[in-house]
Amino acid sequence: MARTRPGRSCPRDYRYPPAVFARAADLEAQSLYVVGGLYGNRFALEAVLDLARRENATLVFNGDFNWFDADPEGFRALNETVLRHAALRGNVETELAGEDAGAGCGCGYPEWVGDAEVERSNRILERLRETARGFPDLRARLGSLPMHLVAEIAGLRIGIVHGDAESLAGWQFSQEALGERPECAEALLAGSGVDVFACTHTCLPVMQEFVAPRGKALIVNNGAAGMPNFRDTRFGLATRIASTPSAQSLYGARLGATVVEAVPVRYDHEAWIAEFDRVWPAGSPAALSYRKRIASGPGYEMEQAVRAGAFSRAA
Ligand SMILES: [Fe+2]
Repeated sequence: MARTRPGRSCPRDYRYPPAVFARAADLEAQSLYVVGGLYGNRFALEAVLDLARRENATLVFNGDFNWFDADPEGFRALNETVLRHAALRGNVETELAGEDAGAGCGCGYPEWVGDAEVERSNRILERLRETARGFPDLRARLGSLPMHLVAEIAGLRIGIVHGDAESLAGWQFSQEALGERPECAEALLAGSGVDVFACTHTCLPVMQEFVAPRGKALIVNNGAAGMPNFRDTRFGLATRIASTPSAQSLYGARLGATVVEAVPVRYDHEAWIAEFDRVWPAGSPAALSYRKRIASGPGYEMEQAVRAGAFSRAA
């Protein structure tokens, strides 16, 4: 049964009901960067910190900030920095903190992801967990992070998740699912009482508008902050939510007085790929699964990410 194999399943304790978002906001901000999927890229972390510093923005790291950071010093430094900010645990942090190997990487991969890739993800997680064992305090802190946050910006209610409105590793807010089954996302928005869901986890970005009981609503998936998201590019993406637009955004949408945008995370590519090759040499599971994407992006275009209600800007 595919759904019970490591890396395929969605563990029971990953789940929560959409109604959990109908609560007072956990944080209020003037401008907010939601940074999903750093994947251990410390150069992307530096770039994100710099973006936020320039406008005194609040940062939320919504999970999977770890992945390629299997070297102990890199792991320690990255986690100590991230944990100074608001953060959610992704499936990677959750599985790092736990001992149960039954969930594998906890990705909950759907059927369109091949078995070989799932198996390699499980091996990456096992190596990373070995590194994490050297830092029991950090491991405990990762395990105690929340699975979701509610933020408020100028009256706009934002549900921040790793996966979707029901699961830390859910795929209902993937670009594939939003294209094929938009009615599912619309129902989740209606059941949650938020105007925006900001998510990540599924590795490809998308911004798509919906109609919800409170009016116009949006799902924004930043793809990855620490890896390229579009063909022949070498930058990550973060989601920015603020009352004034950013001159750097690639595309965005307006909800009332607030803009939601995809902002490039322009990190030092040469330094990053040199570090990646050192930690994950040719033939390693991470090199086989991710090096091509890190070098030149996935087979995905920005036009595919910009859906109904979102508009592109000149980069
Ligand atoms: Fe994830």
